[in-house]
Amino acid sequence: METQFQKWKKQYGDLHTIWFGDMPIVTLHDAPTILETFLKDGETYAGRPYFKWDDIIRNGRNGVIFTEGERWRENRRFALHVFRNFGLGKNLMQERVLVEVTSLITDIKDEILGGKNEVSVQNAIDLAVGSIINSLTLGYRYGKEKREEFEKVKKFAQYMIAQVGKPVYRVMDNGPEFYKNFPICNSYYKNFTTEVEKVKNYFLDHIKEHRKVIDFESEEEPTDFVEAFLRHQYKQKAEGITDNNFDDDQLYATILDLWIAGQETTSNTLAWMCVYLFQYPQVQQKLHHELDKVIGSDRIITLDDKNSLNYVNAVVAETQRFCNMIPINVFHRVTKDTKIHGYQIPTDTTITHQVSSVLMDERYFPEPEKFKPERFLDKNGKFFQPPELMPFGIGKRACLGEGLARLELYLFAANMANHFKLDYPSEMTDFGKRLIGGTIVPAPFLCKIQNRF
Ligand code: HEM
Repeated sequence: METQFQKWKKQYGDLHTIWFGDMPIVTLHDAPTILETFLKDGETYAGRPYFKWDDIIRNGRNGVIFTEGERWRENRRFALHVFRNFGLGKNLMQERVLVEVTSLITDIKDEILGGKNEVSVQNAIDLAVGSIINSLTLGYRYGKEKREEFEKVKKFAQYMIAQVGKPVYRVMDNGPEFYKNFPICNSYYKNFTTEVEKVKNYFLDHIKEHRKVIDFESEEEPTDFVEAFLRHQYKQKAEGITDNNFDDDQLYATILDLWIAGQETTSNTLAWMCVYLFQYPQVQQKLHHELDKVIGSDRIITLDDKNSLNYVNAVVAETQRFCNMIPINVFHRVTKDTKIHGYQIPTDTTITHQVSSVLMDERYFPEPEKFKPERFLDKNGKFFQPPELMPFGIGKRACLGEGLARLELYLFAANMANHFKLDYPSEMTDFGKRLIGGTIVPAPFLCKIQNRF
């Protein structure tokens, strides 16, 4: 699939239409046009097409990823506000992330002490990132004790992401209730809705439990997203606001969205970073050199160190570019008639900016097939980010979790690299293979780990 997109780009240029099932999608592939449209004229590109499966998955047009208009705007603003109140950009959010970083390092060290010389860093990262998103949304971390529960939710999130690319899913999107009467579609429908029910019940039970224990009359600061939302909902009702965008369906769908969008993306990026550190030992060496020079001990690395760790930042940036994890970006809908390079783009056209094309484009990243963190260092060795580095998308619908994801990537990368030296496993079958689903995941791998302290 990845190479096919590249071929089409070469053949048809920077602006062309691809067909997703029976749905035409206008795709943009060059940075100047993307910046001119999605960034400078954001409102025009801020819509989302309507997928009928959403009536089943999200009880209608709810959540953040696929909503539009006031419901989307108010809820996106609310989620960002809650994240900021939890201390994004300040120490509080950092503390939450560092709890998981420290726990991951301790768990791996325990495994090494216990005599294991090959460890699944991938699984450890997965659990840590899952714990962060869960503690933000539902108020508790998984840790090793709740690994089974984590695996259950993660399996569902993965299942959901994987379905989106399946032909039967796409065909049925025109009306699942109609298609379920046909062979093949009927068993697909049954399996799919069973999975959806499981996750709905999981999140709805948590919402119910939260509601029972919150003292709505108190002015206490909420500590997780569900609590913040329920308090806001209660306040609105008390103020007599009935036509509001903060009902229970919206809450359920938002937690689902934060989970789906926030877990696999962040966890995979970090897993890819480990793969590249084996594959490019000179990069790992330079990383250790910088950490020894700037940090020089096993102390926890924090945001205060970020400006001094130019190479760490460059490795994270190059990992995001090189792993190029989202083969096709989330679709947008054009909200009014517009023109791109003289081509008429009517209202309601489905369109997207192909982040994956830009990140592998030699016009912006010479020798794109090489893993070179140095491309993000200026002549004085200072880290910089060019506008073409857009793994989170750009414009009004750019990733809502960008701030959190950046914090996680930096803190995990810096601290893991400081504590460990990673090396190839003995079993190399499929090592580094790109498994394509909704995101591109590295094939499961173990690694040899040495303690650096
Ligand atoms: C390395 C990690 C991540 C990457 C690469 C990433 C990338 C993206 C991309 C490309 C989009 C689509 C932009 C568009 O529509 O054009 C997106 C949307 C979104 N992301 Fe992320 N993301 C990451 C982590 C997160 C995290 C941690 C969260 C939440 C906790 C999150 C929540 C969202 C949401 C809610 C949207 C939909 C925004 C909207 O439609 O208004 N993401 N992300």
